[in-house]
Amino acid sequence: MSNITITNHPLIQHKLSILRDKDTPSKDFRELVEEIAMLMCYEATRDLPLEEIEIETPVAVAKAKHLAGKKLAVVPILRAGLGMVDGILALIPSARVGHIGLYRDPETLQPVEYYCKFPADIAERDVIVVDPMCATGGSAIDAISMIKKRGPKHIKFMCTIAAPEGLKALSEAHPDVDIFCAALDERLNDHGYIVPGLGDAGDRIFGTK
Ligand code: PRP
Ligand code: URA
Repeated sequence: MSNITITNHPLIQHKLSILRDKDTPSKDFRELVEEIAMLMCYEATRDLPLEEIEIETPVAVAKAKHLAGKKLAVVPILRAGLGMVDGILALIPSARVGHIGLYRDPETLQPVEYYCKFPADIAERDVIVVDPMCATGGSAIDAISMIKKRGPKHIKFMCTIAAPEGLKALSEAHPDVDIFCAALDERLNDHGYIVPGLGDAGDRIFGTK
């Protein structure tokens, strides 16, 4: 089974409550998705390896730490995952960004692929896949399968809200992937929406409904 972390920091939980509110306008929604992604990224990168370097401060030579090896790649699942990218880049500006375009067929709830572009050196990087919602888990499962074909070092998946069904399916399909979510909600409804959730994340980020 995957390592599952619920990032329940008070700042994240507070922002998530505003995000869920149906009266929160798109502009605020977008900003909150980005801020939550930044706070979650802080938690999800706790285990990044460090190496010792020597630096010269104005006072003395000192041993100091910096991040070891190649940096990260962030891969948003389009569209809604795009809303999380800038929050991560604010903390890790040198991260490369790949894109996977998937939409859920409204009838079958199966993910349909329409775009895929990864950094050329993704095999040498740790990857963080981002999407605000993990409902049935189908989109995350397919996106991660596509990335695995390129052989990256390690994959983490980060979402704001997950349904129990989605987390179970994702951790069974990809037990080696570490999962971070800010909230684990009750269930899916008959249309595959997370309850209570926040509605359609893509529509709320981009104001398309
Ligand atoms: C939403 C969401 C996830 C997916 C989750 O995207 O952003 O990608 O649904 O559902 P699943 O876990 O059941 O696959 P959607 O298909 O609505 O596309 P969009 O981001 O373009 O709005
Ligand atoms: N996709 C969303 O945007 N919201 C849900 O609740 C489920 C899938």
